[in-house]
Amino acid sequence: MTSPRTTLSLVDTDPAELAVDAIVIGVHSQSGAQDATSGLAGTLLLSSGAESIAAAFDGKLTETLALLGATGGPGEVIKLATLGTVTAPLVVAVGLGAEPTGAAPSPETLRRAAGAAVRALAGAPRVALALPLPDDADAAAALRAVAEGALLGGYRFAGYKTRPQPTRREPVAEVLVSVPDASDATAQAEIARAQAVAGAVRLSRDWVNTAPNELRPPAFAEVVAAAAREAGLEVEVLDEAELKAGGYGGITAVGQGSEAPPRLVKLTYTPEGGGTGKRVALVGKGITFDTGGISIKPAQGMWEMKSDMAGAAAVGAAMLAVAALKPSVAVSGYLPMAENMPSGTSYRPGDVVTMFNGKRVEVLNTDAEGRMILGDAMARACADGCDYLFETSTLTGGQVISLGKRIAGVMGTPELCERVRAAGDATGEPAWPMPLPDDVRKGMDSDVADISQVNAGMDRAGHMLQGGVFLREFVAEDVAWAHIDIAGPGYHSGEPTGYWTKGGTGVPVRTLLHLIDDVAANG
Ligand code: BES
Ligand code: MN
Ligand code: ZN
Repeated sequence: MTSPRTTLSLVDTDPAELAVDAIVIGVHSQSGAQDATSGLAGTLLLSSGAESIAAAFDGKLTETLALLGATGGPGEVIKLATLGTVTAPLVVAVGLGAEPTGAAPSPETLRRAAGAAVRALAGAPRVALALPLPDDADAAAALRAVAEGALLGGYRFAGYKTRPQPTRREPVAEVLVSVPDASDATAQAEIARAQAVAGAVRLSRDWVNTAPNELRPPAFAEVVAAAAREAGLEVEVLDEAELKAGGYGGITAVGQGSEAPPRLVKLTYTPEGGGTGKRVALVGKGITFDTGGISIKPAQGMWEMKSDMAGAAAVGAAMLAVAALKPSVAVSGYLPMAENMPSGTSYRPGDVVTMFNGKRVEVLNTDAEGRMILGDAMARACADGCDYLFETSTLTGGQVISLGKRIAGVMGTPELCERVRAAGDATGEPAWPMPLPDDVRKGMDSDVADISQVNAGMDRAGHMLQGGVFLREFVAEDVAWAHIDIAGPGYHSGEPTGYWTKGGTGVPVRTLLHLIDDVAANG
């Protein structure tokens, strides 16, 4: 299932003369001195980029938008028929919030605004964005944000409906971004990058949104492997027999309860001429459906566990973007895949499992399956050799309880956790460092094995941290690592907002790609 595509290009024609179905401009809410004199609750301020449109309206654009109820609040979208004043039949004012003093709007404000506008314009084949873009050092980041927001807000999952929906409007097919100079090489490079990055986010959303009966481990492995081969990546797929023979006890244990056997997919990108010499490993949790297994989950909401492969989807899609963007560092992606099912062949509480690195784990709850498949994959990544290991997974409900639905939890080497936080900040995928306390590890001491899979008394205190503490056991001494728990931010079950659509979000594809650039530039 692939979503309809949106194309993006730069344009430097006067926005008032663009032959498009709609032209998007930005408006700020402005409060302050004017309120007292005018008595209005707030005053609108057109953002830069809208000058020629405003001129065509003879100075009455702000007033008209205010009459239509515009306040400039973030995410607000107000449509106005132009009745011949400009070439486009529709002007769309998107709210950018209060005007930041002395600065352009933040990249995330622009990303969300572009997303909200393009989403609201579904049904219009061709639209242009004339949003405020600074002409200083922040220009590239702003353009990148607008382009990403437009492509992601325009995302829609194809779905499975057998009849055409008469009320459903097609996503915008073509987006033009208004810039001062469309032939500028830096601007064009940003657009090309945004297309590769957003393409990866959209693909990972597609994989997450795909029904779990259509994407069991062998099928998931096949689609990832096929796409990776086409992109020119090296591909290795281990099947259930090879996993068992290779000592991948965790993947084997979780996968054995399902008729659809487990897989481990490894994708490798090698930079031309060896690059900087640094090696990055990405590991993503690929539980194609998580019933909990013998420690079965309640029925309510269980359907959302089709998103339990969001980490693997993000890693697989990010690897395809890596193949296109060709960074100067070596990158390997590891996607352990299994379906966690209850059956006569399932692994069970009390089992002791020997993992890929030889450590023995006492299973206490088969619903803590993510760490079992990840421990193997992370140990394999370390055995292959890497300098940095980024692992991402919908690992614990505890992440949602502690940090909510938008902010990922990060655990690992403190310096690397800080870099993940900064990358999340830059990309609009917030992530927050969390500790790996000694007492939590102590609580996971097992009577019979090297470590319990969860707290030995099944105490849920510090539940997210138990996941991080467990995974640390599978990272080699000399490897800097970070575990990114995306249980909340990986899937959006609420109404669409900004560039977030319903379902898979594609988090943390953009963070991972940003981190790869970071390692390429700074080691
Ligand atoms: N896939 C779930 C975590 C999850 C919960 C992701 C909610 C997204 C939304 C994970 O495999 C799981 O079941 N975790 C258990 C761990 C527990 C048994 C130690 C949990 O969070 O309760
Ligand atoms: Mn589980
Ligand atoms: Zn799970």
